[in-house]
Amino acid sequence: MNKTKLQVLKGFSGIYHSEGDIDVYFAPGRVNIIGEHIDYNGGHVFPCALSVGTYLAVKKRDDNVIRLFSKNCVKAGIFQINIEDISYDKSNGWVNYPLGVFKTLIDNGYKITHGYDLYYYGNIPGSGLSSSASIEVVTAYMLRETNNFDFTLTKLAKMCQESENKFNGLSCGIMDQYASALGKRNCAMFLDTATLKHEYIKMNLEPYQIVVINSQVPHSLTSSHYNDRLNECQEALKLLQTKKKGLKNLCELSLGEFNEIADVIYDPIIQNRARFAVEEEQRVKDAINALNEKDVVKFGELLTASGDGLKYDYEATIWQIDVLVDICLTFKGCLGSRETGGGWGGNIIALVKKDQINTFQKYVYTAYKNKTKLKPTFLNLVIGDGVHKVK
Ligand code: GLA
Repeated sequence: MNKTKLQVLKGFSGIYHSEGDIDVYFAPGRVNIIGEHIDYNGGHVFPCALSVGTYLAVKKRDDNVIRLFSKNCVKAGIFQINIEDISYDKSNGWVNYPLGVFKTLIDNGYKITHGYDLYYYGNIPGSGLSSSASIEVVTAYMLRETNNFDFTLTKLAKMCQESENKFNGLSCGIMDQYASALGKRNCAMFLDTATLKHEYIKMNLEPYQIVVINSQVPHSLTSSHYNDRLNECQEALKLLQTKKKGLKNLCELSLGEFNEIADVIYDPIIQNRARFAVEEEQRVKDAINALNEKDVVKFGELLTASGDGLKYDYEATIWQIDVLVDICLTFKGCLGSRETGGGWGGNIIALVKKDQINTFQKYVYTAYKNKTKLKPTFLNLVIGDGVHKVK
């Protein structure tokens, strides 16, 4: 039996003092390779699922009580609630993620007629690799499997996004939940967020590899400027629509088309936000071409250009992230680097020559620690599968 499954089953029995009929599910975290902040602008994104994520051990109950426990928040103890009493309460902390999913499924017409004992365990290091999306997705999948609901994984991702938007109050796009639900081993997903169609693309960057580096500055999206950026993009779109009828999303515009009508956005800051989105969309398409042509150097340049856009036009970085990216770029065997994910902290990625990864890590660790007093952590990217039952 899978080692982590065994550990999670033991944990479940220790907490709930029961055995038998316990199933274990898993949903991965994600890292985005390129295509940042455009999943809410109808753009293409290119994320992949990680091999780490959230495990959920579950046993059905005969009553309508839900009990939740997380190995990662032991101090919080067991949280207990009746299905019909679910509502958001900030002081409930992490359980708002699974509870939001219960509520959203019920609001979408899926009848949940019994309670559950739930035991969560997450092995995603640090913040910023979508542990919350993985909690949502594993919960929704468990509810689908244990109730024989017939929704697709795309619908599942949409409901998890709805839960995050409405229940937890973050107006995120669909990228994280989609990648966690539909990811595929060794592949990144070229996802069109306007149509929700995706193509799996094998990530062959030989002789380079992507390294994910945690800045140790936790990012908290709800307290960040994430929702501000969404509003700014929507404002830009409204103004552009006065010049281009029928325009649905910023990312439909080519850079040439955008430049022709950009003056209608009189605020230069808002104009920069919109330009970033238009340019980032092009970079994603160029990155796919570079991958197909096995042009790793070009691929690396596009990563760095995306990061520059995030720093200067989208202003979604912080100084520690800028320092970390700059350090990576001074390493000879690194072809590109940028912030990844929600922004304002969290993680960066770097494209590094495989046989130099150890030297790279030592170099980055020391330089970053000297400049910020923080100790970065490293994860060599291993791309795993989307949500599934653990055998
Ligand atoms: C967060 C959101 C995603 C996406 C990224 C930025 O991770 O949850 O929907 O917008 O930020 O690309």
